Amino acid sequence: MISTDIAHAAALLRQGECVAIPTETVYGLAADAFQERAVAKVFSIKGRPTFDPLIVHLPELDWISRVASEFPAAAQALAEKFWPGPLTLILPKQSQVPDLVTSGLPSVAVRIPAHPMARELLRQVDHPLAAPSANRFGRISPTTPEAVEKELGNAIPLILDGGHCTIGVESTIIRFDPEGPALLRAGGLPLETIEAIIGPIRLLNRPQEVPHAPGQLLHHYAPSKKLFLLDGRDRSPSDPGVGNGRLGEASLPLESQNAVISPANAGLLTFGTLLSSENFSMTLNLSPTENLEEAAAHFFGMLRELDESSAEILYAVRLPNHGLGRAMNERLERASTRSAS
Ligand code: TXA
Ligand code: MG
Repeated sequence: MISTDIAHAAALLRQGECVAIPTETVYGLAADAFQERAVAKVFSIKGRPTFDPLIVHLPELDWISRVASEFPAAAQALAEKFWPGPLTLILPKQSQVPDLVTSGLPSVAVRIPAHPMARELLRQVDHPLAAPSANRFGRISPTTPEAVEKELGNAIPLILDGGHCTIGVESTIIRFDPEGPALLRAGGLPLETIEAIIGPIRLLNRPQEVPHAPGQLLHHYAPSKKLFLLDGRDRSPSDPGVGNGRLGEASLPLESQNAVISPANAGLLTFGTLLSSENFSMTLNLSPTENLEEAAAHFFGMLRELDESSAEILYAVRLPNHGLGRAMNERLERASTRSAS
């Protein structure tokens, strides 16, 4: 059931039920982080392996000592600057956080979401909430209550309706290693913005089989259809690649040699003027004006729409690799890896 009743959601969570909650990034599937059986339900509803730990959500900075045993200076600087917001910090865990939440790791992932309904809910529950994205494991993250309903509607008693997620991609995850801070997942807070506060951050986020963040498996965020990545047209007019920006017959810089493009049954996810063609069965533009924030807000919804369309295969252009473009590119790489295998 989709509802705006925060008190009802809080009561269900206190009883050990799982509830889908809005955040500014994506919808989360929440459980009381201190009730291990409720947390176990999150894993079983999602079909998520228990080696993949969850993010713990707080409403206020002064709850931090309930879940973390230390708060390094660099983490504190980021928390003060960017919380509430799309940033997750990996911190040494407080012993009362159940091992199931952290998959047995000595660290815990923590974030204060910016969505006012999420924070009010947290205050009413009066416990931290463990919440992964509210999709079945490996699938496209939901950014609307309707998308959650399609994914998990028959498995949970309530979806708290907070409207369309404003940011649209998951939080950026930072860990503090002896060698310095490291990026575990590109996300809704741009790397450049974080580096402006604490200096250079090590990049560990290349897609790989052995993930740094345990959940960053190579195939993730996957539509059910095959997805191929295209290099967008170079913006310089002399670019020999795709010429006029239309989809030429043999001129596509295709990622996969196996991909035989037949636009009539293919869907295209594009950005600005990177690539366009009337020939695709469906073309969705993340942001005709090339605004990366607008693109991120549309990202998962448009992927989902293409996945549900009559198109048999999907193409997506790589985005400019800065700001929120980095987060979207990382997700497209994973989505296409799953498709290719
Ligand atoms: O924006 C978000 O972060 C959303 C909303 C709901 O808050 N949540 C989200 O959760 O994206 P999820 O479960 O889809 O992704 C959590 C990521 C996983 O890649 C997991 O491996 C990583 O965080 N993670 C959790 N605890 C960790 C830890 N102790 N060390 C390293 N990575 C951790
Ligand atoms: Mg997820």
